[in-house]
Amino acid sequence: MKNDSSVTALADALRAGVHRMSPGERLPSSRALVERHRVSPVTVSRALGLLAAEGLVVTRPGSGTFAADRRAAGAEPADFGWQAVTLGDRSVDPSGVAWLLTPAPDGVVPLSGGYLHPTLQPTRALATAAARAARRPDAWEMPALGGLPALRAWFARTVGGVVSPADVVITSGGQQSLTTVLRALLPPGAPVLVESPTYLGVLAVARASGLHPVPVPVDGDGVRPDLLAEAFAMSGARVFYSQPAFHNPTGTVLSAERRARVLDVARAAGAFVVEDDYARHLGVDPPPPPLIAADAEGRVVHIASLTKATAPSLRVAAVIARGPVAERIRATQLVEEFFPARPLQETLLELVSSPGWPRHLRTVRAALLARRDALRAALARELPELHVNRPAGGLHLWARLPEGTDDAALAEAALRAGVLVSAGRPFFPAEAPAPYLRISYGTAASEPELAEGVRRLATVLRS
Ligand SMILES: Cc1ncc(COP(=O)(O)O)c(C=O)c1O
Repeated sequence: MKNDSSVTALADALRAGVHRMSPGERLPSSRALVERHRVSPVTVSRALGLLAAEGLVVTRPGSGTFAADRRAAGAEPADFGWQAVTLGDRSVDPSGVAWLLTPAPDGVVPLSGGYLHPTLQPTRALATAAARAARRPDAWEMPALGGLPALRAWFARTVGGVVSPADVVITSGGQQSLTTVLRALLPPGAPVLVESPTYLGVLAVARASGLHPVPVPVDGDGVRPDLLAEAFAMSGARVFYSQPAFHNPTGTVLSAERRARVLDVARAAGAFVVEDDYARHLGVDPPPPPLIAADAEGRVVHIASLTKATAPSLRVAAVIARGPVAERIRATQLVEEFFPARPLQETLLELVSSPGWPRHLRTVRAALLARRDALRAALARELPELHVNRPAGGLHLWARLPEGTDDAALAEAALRAGVLVSAGRPFFPAEAPAPYLRISYGTAASEPELAEGVRRLATVLRS
């Protein structure tokens, strides 16, 4: 009788008894419990261990087990009401980000999420890189401030052109970089221009920092420079956040003609462009060079993160900036977090320097291309009424729903039917012009699973 169910059954029986006892009252001895419940001593000890972990009993070696003080066990909830007055009306809304990061429940097909399925992650290469990194005698020492010199040099080389390793600061992932950069560049209350739609995580960061995201529409060639100029003029904004390569959620690449115009418009407004280069390695074809490579005047602040091409917990990225803004960003990062953990910096350096790195990127690109096409084919077959884009890279399709569809209700119904997709609405900083779904192809286990997800989505849309 040592199995988990006998332990659980005994714990349930004892729990009911403990609730009727006064604090400090002694439970029957272990031997008495063995005899009374006809279970083994191991089962008794594990059941008492469970109750102790719940804070319901306290075991004193040599004297026995006693009912714990109820208040300590949380029987009477404390009154935290005073905190509402002290905290005031500022709040942080994590709902969109939490939705993106919540794994699909068992049995649900994940067609939402920002990271590769584990089978596409370089798990073995990461294990090797982490083991090498951890074996270094100085692995747990402080890294050089600004980041490991060799890692800064690697990021500078990948951007090419006008930047040097001294322009690079290593950070703890793309999301942290967004917080650091926006807080460094803008005071609370300031407007920040964003593409519409845009990555909902940047909207969450901006709002949590007291900034006001101002939408600028994108079309098939990226952000519209004419409307960008108008938005600068109307809002007085000094920062434009942009994803020129494989924009999340639409997958768009900023066209060659617009790249120069965006920089011209920002120059005319005296503004910075924050370039979120989160998906550089996830293109069917390599995207154009980053905007910062064509920027001679320190106008572009570039964020390069690698979690999308590797694994979510490799939380190391880089911010590249030049001029006084670089100093401001370095100072902000230092104050906010000191520095990113050195073992992770060393691990990333080991990984990108290993001979398997280019091979891994080729494998991921090929798998994503196959999955993108499989998902598009399944949608064309099952749901021809959707207008689905054909992104040149990234992890997601952006599908326009029939007019009048409630995208949030649809996503909720889809989850109940066993497929996780993202409603388009939260990606818009203000009103959405039409209903959309973001349907991810990097998160499912296989192409057949993508097809199964689409079948389930179709049954929901039909009903
Ligand atoms: C456009 C974009 N930027 C930044 C991030 C943040 O990613 P990470 O913090 O893992 O680098 C994400 C994640 O979904 C994203 O989609």
